[in-house]
Amino acid sequence: MLSTMWRLLMLAMMLMAMVAEVRGYPQGPPVSACGDMFPQGHKVDAKPITPPYTLSASPATVAAGETVTLSLEATGDSTYPYYEGMFVQARWASCDSDEPVGTFTVPQNDDFLKLMTCNNTAASAVSNKVSNHETNKTFTWTAPTPFQGRIYFRATVVKNKENFWTNVFSSYVTYTGDTSQAPAEYCTVRSTWSSSVPGLSASLIVAVIVTSFSLMYNL
Ligand SMILES: *[C@@H]1O[C@H](CO)[C@@H](O)[C@H](O)[C@H]1NC(C)=O
Ligand SMILES: *[C@@H]1O[C@H](CO)[C@@H](O)[C@H](O)[C@H]1NC(C)=O
Repeated sequence: MLSTMWRLLMLAMMLMAMVAEVRGYPQGPPVSACGDMFPQGHKVDAKPITPPYTLSASPATVAAGETVTLSLEATGDSTYPYYEGMFVQARWASCDSDEPVGTFTVPQNDDFLKLMTCNNTAASAVSNKVSNHETNKTFTWTAPTPFQGRIYFRATVVKNKENFWTNVFSSYVTYTGDTSQAPAEYCTVRSTWSSSVPGLSASLIVAVIVTSFSLMYNL
């Protein structure tokens, strides 16, 4: 009786782990990816070619509390005609932190987009919640109060588990009152997978522990 329960639990865990391994993040990125926005669970490097996606942001200047409309478009490359996952944040164009800036809104009842809480700020990122094939999703960003300086939007865009980009950038969005022409830069992004970073799903680890335990005690 106990033995059957253990085996079933073990099997369920293994299946959960396998589904997670094969599909990457069908319901969007984990909060642990908020910093480098790299999909560690995909277990491959980002594509080294120019992204076949465009993240457009308009207008290019805003005041505190004003909004910017964003569209993430597949730019028509027939090899990558759509995306099925995405992760977007606003970042300061000065590279001194990996902190998300401002907040997003997505259309009500959108079937693909969801808001995420990164670094304890609600709605500081947008991601997919399912893995539909999308070609052009639109959402908005609200500048923080106060707002000074310059930001850009940074996206990780996923065609499928083996093909994704971590270097999809919008043009800069600047505070309306900023006349300083301060230098701005797009910060370096992580593009390579590293097996030394724990990439195993929690359920796989639990499955291994449960298996060892049940073998050890002959349950
Ligand atoms: C935001 O959260 C991520 C994930 O926990 C972390 O890696 C990153 O360093 C955090 N950024 C800041 C500015 O705290
Ligand atoms: C994407 O959607 C936006 C907003 O509806 C629109 O302005 C833009 O032209 C669309 N882009 C493409 C490539 O269809």
